Amino acid sequence: MPRKLLKYKNYDVHSITTCTPETPDRPSRRNANIATWVMQTAMGGTHLVVALYEPDLTIELVRESGILNVNLLAEEQTGLIRKLGQQSGRDKDKFKNLPYALDERGCPYLTEAIGYAQCRVIDRIPAGDHELFVCAVEKQVVLNPDKRVMTNQFIKEKKLVRG
Ligand SMILES: Cc1cc2nc3c(=O)[nH]c(=O)nc-3n(C[C@H](O)[C@H](O)[C@H](O)COP(=O)(O)O)c2cc1C
Repeated sequence: MPRKLLKYKNYDVHSITTCTPETPDRPSRRNANIATWVMQTAMGGTHLVVALYEPDLTIELVRESGILNVNLLAEEQTGLIRKLGQQSGRDKDKFKNLPYALDERGCPYLTEAIGYAQCRVIDRIPAGDHELFVCAVEKQVVLNPDKRVMTNQFIKEKKLVRG
């Protein structure tokens, strides 16, 4: 039995994908992580908040680009927990052998996810060891409506993460 109340909470599992613009000095950089701390904050689904962890590549690229996609993962995508959530894009190209496509902004999204919310960062708030990125949702796209949403409880039961 967990000792701490917040360990009882369940969350959906997402991947945050992002890319920076190409400049004369630097090529575009892209990345994908795993994120559970994502929350809708407007009744019409117009806003989301995403909590990103300070040392990671994802937060560095989102700070620079101000754009991201929130990909809602499906249960069958458990292989992504290790690939995207337990190693850093600083050390490897996570898009190798990863099914993805680019939205009209050039930002990647995961084609085997349930779908993605196309987001633009409008504010940032420090919050413990994560920073909150308040996002305007520009578009919601459903790609695979019949798949089941991956949850934190599900990946704990599969022993992919510790509880
Ligand atoms: C189940 C799970 C949930 C996670 N939730 C978050 C989260 O909400 N926010 C976050 O920034 N990182 C979260 N992470 C950690 C990042 O996905 C992880 O540190 C990743 O390796 C970062 O890679 P990067 O350096 O390429 O950005 C989570 C990881 C796992 C496995």
